[in-house]
Amino acid sequence: MGEQRERTFIMVKPDGVQRGLVGTIIERFEKKGFKLVALKFVWPSEELLQKHYSDLSSRPFFPGLVKYMSSGPVVPMVWEGLNVVKTARQMLGATNPADSQPGTIRGDLCIQVGRNILHGSDSVESAKKEIDLWFTEKEVVGWTPAAENWVYE
Ligand code: RTP
Ligand code: MG
Repeated sequence: MGEQRERTFIMVKPDGVQRGLVGTIIERFEKKGFKLVALKFVWPSEELLQKHYSDLSSRPFFPGLVKYMSSGPVVPMVWEGLNVVKTARQMLGATNPADSQPGTIRGDLCIQVGRNILHGSDSVESAKKEIDLWFTEKEVVGWTPAAENWVYE
C-alpha cells in the first residue's frame, strides 16, 4: 500500500505552456492511472530555477537553461502511484527528443533538447527535494480516487 504512495515532481516547461500542451501532458498521466496530488501555474524566478537545476550549475548550458525555464509560466505538479518516478521518466522519454522513442511524450511532441517541454524527477530522492522546493506541505493534497481499486489489485 505504502509503495503506491511514491511521488514524483513533473513540470510543464514554458514551451509546453506556450504550445498549449498542458492538457495533453496532464492527460497522459491521468490516463495511465497516476493520481494528481498537487498542481499550480506560476512564472518562476531565475533564483528558484537555479536551485531546481543546482546539480547542473557547472554545465555550459546552465545559463541558457535557466533563461529558457524562466521565460514564461510553467505548470509544476506532483503525481503519485506505484513506481511513479521511474515510470514517469519512461513516459517522458530521453532528455534529447532526437533520441526519445515514439510513443513517449517528448518523442511525440518535441524536437530539440533545449525545448523538451517537460521535466520529471530522476530519483525518489530528487523528487522529495523538488516537491519541497515548489510546494508547501498544505499544497500537496492526499485523497482517494473513486477508481483506485480498478487501477490497483
Ligand atoms: P529534466 O531534468 O528537465 O527532466 O531533464 P533530464 O533529467 O532528462 O535531463 P537533465 O540532464 O536533468 O537536463 C535538464 C535539462 O537541461 C536541458 N539540457 N540541455 N543543451 C544541452 O546539451 C542540454 N542538456 C540538457 C534540457 O532542457 C534538459 O531537460
Ligand atoms: Mg533532470
